[in-house]
This record gives sequence, structure tokens and C-alpha cells, in this order.
Amino acid sequence: MAWVADAGPRWWSSAVVQQVYLRSFADSSGDGVGDLAGLRSRLPYLAALGVDAVWVTPHYESPQEDHGYDVADPRAVDPLFGTLADVDALVAEAHGAGLRVLLDLVPNHTSRQRQWFVDALAAAPGSRERARYLFRDGRGPGGDEPPNDWGSVFGGPGWERVVEADGRPGQWYLHLFAPGQPDLDWSNEEVRADAEQTLRFWLDRGIDGFRVDVAHGLVKADGLPDDPFPQVMTESSFPTHGSPQWDQPGVHEVYRRWRRLLDSYGPDRVLVGELWVRDPERHAAYVRPDELHLAFAFQLLEAEFTAAAWREAIGDSLAATASVGSPVTWVLGNHDVARMATRLGSVEASRAAQLAMLALPGPAFLYAGDELGLPEVDVPAAHRQDPIWERSGHTAPGRDGCRVPLPWSGSAPPFGFTTAATAWLPQPAAWAALTVEAQEGDPLSTLVLVRGALAVRRALLGGPLAWREGLPDGVLGWDRVGGSAPVTCVLNPTAAGVEVALAGRLVLASAPVGYDGTTLELPPTSCAWLSPA
Ligand code: GLC
Repeated sequence: MAWVADAGPRWWSSAVVQQVYLRSFADSSGDGVGDLAGLRSRLPYLAALGVDAVWVTPHYESPQEDHGYDVADPRAVDPLFGTLADVDALVAEAHGAGLRVLLDLVPNHTSRQRQWFVDALAAAPGSRERARYLFRDGRGPGGDEPPNDWGSVFGGPGWERVVEADGRPGQWYLHLFAPGQPDLDWSNEEVRADAEQTLRFWLDRGIDGFRVDVAHGLVKADGLPDDPFPQVMTESSFPTHGSPQWDQPGVHEVYRRWRRLLDSYGPDRVLVGELWVRDPERHAAYVRPDELHLAFAFQLLEAEFTAAAWREAIGDSLAATASVGSPVTWVLGNHDVARMATRLGSVEASRAAQLAMLALPGPAFLYAGDELGLPEVDVPAAHRQDPIWERSGHTAPGRDGCRVPLPWSGSAPPFGFTTAATAWLPQPAAWAALTVEAQEGDPLSTLVLVRGALAVRRALLGGPLAWREGLPDGVLGWDRVGGSAPVTCVLNPTAAGVEVALAGRLVLASAPVGYDGTTLELPPTSCAWLSPA
């Protein structure tokens, strides 16, 4: 049944979403890998944290060559994580606890074990089976050179040569990520229809939306021309504007179709794009009213932790999306980048940054474990599993360091994460002080701070951002007026303490501050929320 659009703000326009890296959240089966039943058992924790929704990283059938971002069947659950019944139970229990559920959609590529790709390898060049992927003849004598100069985001060339049925070296296929992740050809209507079938499959089961993996990558430039920026790519360092692999105009048509599909389920199902597109206007084009609802604004995650850089990142993002009438989706951490507490230089900085982010207008995504202030882990080489480690010839450690399973309780690994002797990645012994259990009982812990921030945000914060001018050098501040009470956020990312003249009442602070109702003393790398007098 069609719904009638109303103009009111939807839940997602100011939601806080907890990203759960499924392998690392909670294990119920005892194999050392997190799973759906483990996540279900921890829903009370998420509800108490105060988030509105949970985004679950891929749970689909997969050989796990890129930990689930290599999907062999997008409409089946990998036994590693549970069953379809677990998904149904997760959705029902989450909804019962007031939480929405977003799944992770991986449309750019499949696993090499997807039946489609198995069929493509067995079929001849030019066949319908090959046409679902990007198979091309090689260049040079004998087709020995890759079809173009594109690299893989994970290191090395972006093409792999196959052996044809007659045993001879044959065509090449494109994989912008690992060789186990062949790129689909999004100019193929069969590929488009299949993704829509996947969307419906999960929407019919009651899920609230999707985080769309590599949302800027699906459509490639016609003719697959050489890359004018042929340097080594990493996910967050490649130039997106002008590259033939990324941010091609044709991708917008895909999202217009998906938006119509989601809208047919009512106004509350949501698409969130993973969009590594730097130019704010080009980024905003993806969240026009008839495309994705939301898209991660990685500008803030990538900004240096200074007042000037944050002001620029926040201001540019807000200005660009305001022009299309969409909110900005803030994010400071995920399973692809080093943990915030290490990236920003200290747990204090991560506390300040999270408090500041949560005072911005629009939705925010929190990466599970950042609310505990977990640092990046230097995973011993023998335990590293991220394909980046192998493909970089052991020069780039990869992303395992931000994926170490969460410490829940107890004083030694595996800290209540699993009943197995060890988790799939080893946890540092020093995490004994950072467990959920330890932080629950500590009023000054990062967990209690984030929980408090979410409660205050829900109760008070609303309205647009207005910058505070005239603050001391290196300090950034803004007002939010329009919620149930005005709130002023002041962020001191510098290494020095500062005094700020500000009349009001202290609401929350990331560190011990001094305040007499008129002068706020902010220690180094700290943030405070005030309610103006
Ligand atoms: C996205 C995911 C990342 C994955 C890649 C390939 O960027 O966040 O973890 O490796 O896509 O699917």
C-alpha cells in the first residue's frame, strides 16, 4: 500500500546509530567469532546506551575473504553468524527494545564463490554469465597485460586473469578490492534487478534500512579508461573526483530506483551511503530528495583535530547538504580506520570529539567500542587477517587493529566476548580496565559519558547550528537553539587549557572543567555542553 508523504522529520534525520562489527561484538556459539545470537543477547546494552538503531556488518553467506564484504549469497545467512531465524528474532527483539536495525548491503561486488561468478568462469567470453561482471580481454601481445591501469584499493593490480575452459590464459576480471571480490557490471539490468530483489527480501522481513557499501563505486566510466590518478589507492586516500572508478554520474539513477523501492515500504526505511566522495557538492548530490536518505560525511573523520579544520569540515558539509534539504551524517570511527582514541592522540581527545560530534545537528554513527575509548591494537603479525596485510606485501598492517573483539567483563581475555579460549583476534590484557563491566561502575568512564551525552541529546538537542564567534584561539563553539532547551557546545582540541567567558549552567563535560557560571575553564583536549543562562 502506498503511503502519503508528510513533511515531519523522520527518525533517521537525527538518529544515533551504533555500528556493530558482527564478528567482534559478542559470540554465543563459542567459536571465537561474534554472531547474531550474541548480538541479540547484548541488545539490552545497546538500548541502555541510548542509541536509536544498530547497523550490523555483513551477515550473508560468505567465504570471509574480506570478513563478509565478499558475499556469496546476499539472501542467505552465513552459518558462522547464525540463521535466518536469528535475523527475524534480532529484528523482533530490537524493535521490542525500541531499536531499529540496518543491514549492510554490498552491491559493488560479490564473492568469487557466488554462483554467478562460478558460472562466469565456466562460461565463454562474451556470454551472458560473464556480462554480469567486468570481464575484458587483456592488452598487449597475447592479452598478457591487464585491460587498464586500475589498481586495487587493497594494494596491487585491480585485475585478475582467468584460465579459460580450454586451459589457456584468458580474460581478466576487475576487482577494485580483493581478487575474491569481483566487481559487478552495473550497466547490466540483470545485476540491477537482482540487487532490488535483495533489498525487498530483507525489507519484507522488517529491517529498517541498509548501509550501502562503496556507494560511490557501482558504476564505472564507459570504456573503462586508464586512471588519470594512477597512484597507490587506499580507501580513504584515493581521489574520487575525476577517477573513472568512482563517483560516476550514472550511479545516481541506481539510487533513484532504490529510493522509489524503499518509499513503497513507507517513509521510515532508510538508505545510508558509504561515500568516499570529497567534494561537498558532489557528495550532497547523493542525498537529493529522490536518492539516498543519508550518506556518511567522512570529512569530519578525516579532518585534523583542530578548531579550524573542524569548523571547515562541519561548515562545508552542512552548507552542501542544506542545499539539497538533507541532514549531514557524522561519523568519527568505523571498521576501516584506526580507532579514534589512537588516531586523535588520546582517550581524552576521543571523549571530546565524540561529545562534540553528538552536539551537531543530524544523525551520527558510533563505532562499537569507541564508547569504551578502546585504542587501536597493534595486532601481532601472525594473527593479522585483513587482506590489505597480504596484498600490501606486509607493508600496511591493515584494519585488524580496530576490529579486535569487544571486552565485556572479567579481568582477562577473552573478557566475556566468547566462551572459547580466545577470540578470533587476540585482545590486549590491558583491556581489563576498559571492559563494559569496569566502566559501568565508574562515573567518570567513557561509557558513562557517552550514555549521558545520548540521554541529554535526546532530551534537549534540536535545531540548527549557529557558530559562536569571539572564542579564544583554537577553540570552537556553537549553539543549538530549537530543541527543548538551548545548548552551547565548546570544544578545546588544543594541548593547552583555556578560559571561555560564557554565562549559563554546565550540562556535561568530557573532562573535569572549572566553572563558576560565567567563566568556563576547559582543560586540554576537552569539550563541554552548557545551557546558556
Ligand atoms: C567498504 C567496507 C570495507 C570493505 C570494502 C569492500 O569500504 O567498509 O570494510 O573492505 O568496502 O567491500
